[in-house]
Amino acid sequence: MIRAVIFDLDGVIVTTDEFHYQGWQRLADEEGIFFDRKINERLRGVSRLESLEIILEKAGRNYSKEEKTGMAERKNNYYRSLLHTLAPDDVFPGVKRMLKELKDTGIKIAIGSSSKNTPFILQKIGLEKTFDAVSDGNQIKRSKPDPEVFLLAASKLQIPPDQCLVVEDADAGVEAAINAGMKCLAVGSACVNPKAHLRANNLSEVSVEQIRNM
Ligand code: BG6
Ligand code: MG
Repeated sequence: MIRAVIFDLDGVIVTTDEFHYQGWQRLADEEGIFFDRKINERLRGVSRLESLEIILEKAGRNYSKEEKTGMAERKNNYYRSLLHTLAPDDVFPGVKRMLKELKDTGIKIAIGSSSKNTPFILQKIGLEKTFDAVSDGNQIKRSKPDPEVFLLAASKLQIPPDQCLVVEDADAGVEAAINAGMKCLAVGSACVNPKAHLRANNLSEVSVEQIRNM
């Protein structure tokens, strides 16, 4: 029986996955590096610096550590300026209903995100007080597909991993959930991932009853 649900943030709770893409596209264009939405799919769930390394696979030269730090910072500034437009309406369909129903049923809810911008985003969408625990990029050393971010969330909730369900839009996140010994519901971009235990386009297609009995 599932006693806790750990939600990824970008691309699951809120549409910020599109802003990540726009920030990286701007940086890549400025640097003259080829980048498109297909490559962007590989960045889902992956930390900022690891995302940059993936983008630099298409670069014509090597970049120093200092240059890489500067580029990651620049992308984050572009991203943060897009985040300023974020509002409670930008949460995905079905999210608010699902969070309320889980709470009403006594199921714990947490965030498990690689993003260091998690606290800012939760505040912008008015969900900063909603979750029983938040585990994010500021608190972990290894990013998805490593299970660290989800195991930290489970330990904060004091729920064993095999009673947790992860909701993910990233293939790296589905992998991380499985590596943590948790069940996984794949949505959005990951909705065809065969490794997930349940798949849906978004949370409005899933009931709490389905989740409980996974
Ligand atoms: C994840 C996103 O949630 O956070 C990735 O899916 C992103 O695309 C990662 O790179 C790190 O985010 P941030 O906000 O710390 O740059
Ligand atoms: Mg995501």
